[in-house]
Amino acid sequence: MPTDTSERWVIEGKALEANLKELGYDVVHSNAKDVVEDQISQIQSMVDEGVEFLIVAAIDNKSLGQVLAAAKDKGVTVISYDRLILETPDVDYYASFDNYQVGVLQATHIIDRLGIRDNEGPFNLEIFSGDLGDNNSQYFFMGGLDTFESLLYSGKVVIPSGQTEQDPTSTAGWSGDVAKERMDTLIKEYYSDDRELHAVLSPYDGISRGIVAALVENDYEPGTAGFPVVTGQDAEAASVKAIKDGTGQTETVFKDTRQLAHTVTGMVQAIVEGGEPEVNDLGTYDNGFKFVPSLLLDPVDVTAENYVEVIVESEYLTEEQIDAGEA
Ligand code: BGC
Repeated sequence: MPTDTSERWVIEGKALEANLKELGYDVVHSNAKDVVEDQISQIQSMVDEGVEFLIVAAIDNKSLGQVLAAAKDKGVTVISYDRLILETPDVDYYASFDNYQVGVLQATHIIDRLGIRDNEGPFNLEIFSGDLGDNNSQYFFMGGLDTFESLLYSGKVVIPSGQTEQDPTSTAGWSGDVAKERMDTLIKEYYSDDRELHAVLSPYDGISRGIVAALVENDYEPGTAGFPVVTGQDAEAASVKAIKDGTGQTETVFKDTRQLAHTVTGMVQAIVEGGEPEVNDLGTYDNGFKFVPSLLLDPVDVTAENYVEVIVESEYLTEEQIDAGEA
């Protein structure tokens, strides 16, 4: 696993370990806590220990070529978990969510919530994207931008900062603090003259909370009409609380990570039993060497209207965890 600063990876690490142990596998589980070199040495020592499968959520998708070559030499099967590992022939399968669709859901939330299609506008938007080392970032970004494309072209949606590319909008380490600082700068540079900010496209809940914190510090009041629509991803407890209470972002994208852990466990089991793992996409995820056979699950849009049904009734979070803002 790549980090412990974002809730999902901690939950999934435990879920994967439990699922696999239940089926009788020995499991070595490490979290590299955002340090690329540690992830490489963790993988190397797993290979040295003689593991037969590697399930890897990379920190930096281009950093693992060498260590995976060593794994391949020993016949290890490599499953790229959630984030596609790039520039190596040594990835066998990819399991994730439809990452492009995540961006589509976020942008659609903004369009619907502001009634952009039925109003004159123009609407002012700013964009945040994820860490540049994470292959998923570009899919979230493209899904969002493609959804806004005709509105940007017609001038109904405007990006006053002019920052419309992935690079200047990126957020190193998916960090809320980094996002907070950039939002603060954007407000001071482009919104100090009473220009309204209508929406912020944010790719991930931790980033969204950083954006909201900067807005609040600059006297925007959550829950009022002047507060921009802010999106998110991962249904982290603190963000679902804000959605429920109307105190920040109004949307998140839920990816049922229990399902992903279950899917990957199934892939391992299928191979062990001499079969082929189930995949549903052979032509989207090109890692620079090949299209990696992929199994993609569906992300779900979450707002105040459906969080009970999607998050609570599926037992992903309890109302108590949401109210506490902590899973
Ligand atoms: C994942 C997202 C997550 C982000 C930050 C991405 O690779 O797909 O679910 O929000 O990393 O951890």
